[in-house]
Amino acid sequence: MLAFTVSACGGSEEQAVVEQIVVREPGDPAPIPSVPADAPDLVAAGKSAFAMCSACHVAEAGEPSLAGPNLHGVVGRQAGVLGDFAYSEALATSQITWDEAQLDRFLADPAGTLPGTIMVAGAVGDAERRAAIIAYLTSLDE
Ligand code: HEC
Repeated sequence: MLAFTVSACGGSEEQAVVEQIVVREPGDPAPIPSVPADAPDLVAAGKSAFAMCSACHVAEAGEPSLAGPNLHGVVGRQAGVLGDFAYSEALATSQITWDEAQLDRFLADPAGTLPGTIMVAGAVGDAERRAAIIAYLTSLDE
């Protein structure tokens, strides 16, 4: 356990502590906060943020896939399994199961995470926005 004797970081001590305990490699997406089931604000924010995905993705159960696969129920689903969508080889053979962490990595940098993916847009640089979108997608699973 580290002792936090931070004195000259400019911010409040609390802030300094938070900065110290988050250990990440450069380029790693920020860890996503765990999403409480009743997070209506986050889900609502994710629903609006999903507008940037809906050019290519529907998320209603039973709807046919568009330029991208239907994302209803994607959280917890194996990657690349929808019968009505022609996935890239990269995604179809990725063996990914889309949990929150995998979605966060992929959305932060689709082509970097999965070279060869045909998802050429939709990267979300903002970690909170990714968390909101993932919360929204999770909320659709019920
Ligand atoms: C320009 C169109 C486009 C946009 C915009 C886009 N996607 Fe995609 N997405 C795709 C395509 C195409 C694939 C299939 C990728 C492949 O097969 O390599 C895909 C695949 C995915 C998958 C994997 C689904 C599966 O069945 O394995 C997820 C999850 C996903 N997208 C989420 C998102 C989210 C969330 C957004 C918005 C932040 C988004 N995408 C924006 C086109 C898009």
